[in-house]
Amino acid sequence: MNRIVSKRLLANDLCELEFEAPHIARGHKAGQFLVLQADHDWGERIPLTIADANESAGTVTVVFQAVGATTIKLARFNPGDCIPDVLGPLGNPSDVRKFGRVVLCGGGIGVAPIHPIAQAMRAAGNHVTSILAARTKDLVIFENRMRAASDEVIVCTDDGSYGRKGLVTAPLKEMCESATPPDRVIAIGPPVMMKFCAATTKPFGIPTIVSLNTIMIDGTGMCGGCRVMVGGKMKFVCVDGPDFDGHEVDWDNMMKRMRAFRPFEEEARRRVRDHECNIDKAARAIAAAKEDR
Ligand code: FAD
Ligand code: FES
Ligand code: MG
Repeated sequence: MNRIVSKRLLANDLCELEFEAPHIARGHKAGQFLVLQADHDWGERIPLTIADANESAGTVTVVFQAVGATTIKLARFNPGDCIPDVLGPLGNPSDVRKFGRVVLCGGGIGVAPIHPIAQAMRAAGNHVTSILAARTKDLVIFENRMRAASDEVIVCTDDGSYGRKGLVTAPLKEMCESATPPDRVIAIGPPVMMKFCAATTKPFGIPTIVSLNTIMIDGTGMCGGCRVMVGGKMKFVCVDGPDFDGHEVDWDNMMKRMRAFRPFEEEARRRVRDHECNIDKAARAIAAAKEDR
């Protein structure tokens, strides 16, 4: 079950895994996610968006950044290995209809989750413009796939090493001010990037949907770990989302809640990295002992 069929390193710590999950491949829609465990029994559960699926092969693709204990463990899996537990598809599919001009903003790893939405929006008859933003050229991912799924692609890098120099909000603002403004904007990326995309479109009254990436535990609406305030009401990202009206999200509250477990996350990451160093040390000691013989 959940056997990995391919693994690609997209950039330094950005990894793409394709694995067998026929029920999810058949049943999923753009915007949905899955929850997986990298260890049996005691492993924490993390949500990852379904970035692609191959229904006939029964496989799904996830793209993640190895930033913490679980994603570092996941990045060590190789083709042939099995992911212990995968649950999905979860969450509500994105609202895909004919809106007219749709602008998709993907920041960093957020470009991967935007890919199935670009495909679905185009198939629904929209004119799709995608803005791909990254800190630097090496971190621009999915460019070819996004070009295939969009009518127009704009790449921005913070350092100007590729495409336009600057943040995603600059071309977004220009489009809002143009004679043909977007009818709908969708932003996926770090919370601060989504917050500023929503702030850019708000004065123009352009509906802006964001996909929230809060902490999740059960992923099924029972623990409250993923709660956010949207339009003054409490919502659970796992069952009410992950897509919400970006103009209504209480971003500061969400970002504060996301920092709540940082000391524990750092400790867990340190333990995983130390364990890796110890394995390397043991391997070097064994190799040295063999050479001595
Ligand atoms: P954690 O234990 O959560 O630790 C991560 C730590 O690293 C945190 O302290 C965080 O602040 C910090 N951090 C975050 N980004 C960076 C960075 N760039 N550089 C340095 N530090 C950083 N993540 C994906 O990668 N791909 C997805 O497709 C994806 N989809 C998601 C879909 C949903 C619906 C949700 C809710 C979240 C999604 N996420 C996705 C986020 C992912 O689930 C979390 O990042 C998860 O907590 C990672 O687990 P971890 O144990 O590896 O890291
Ligand atoms: Fe538990 Fe959403 S993750 S309620
Ligand atoms: Mg973690």
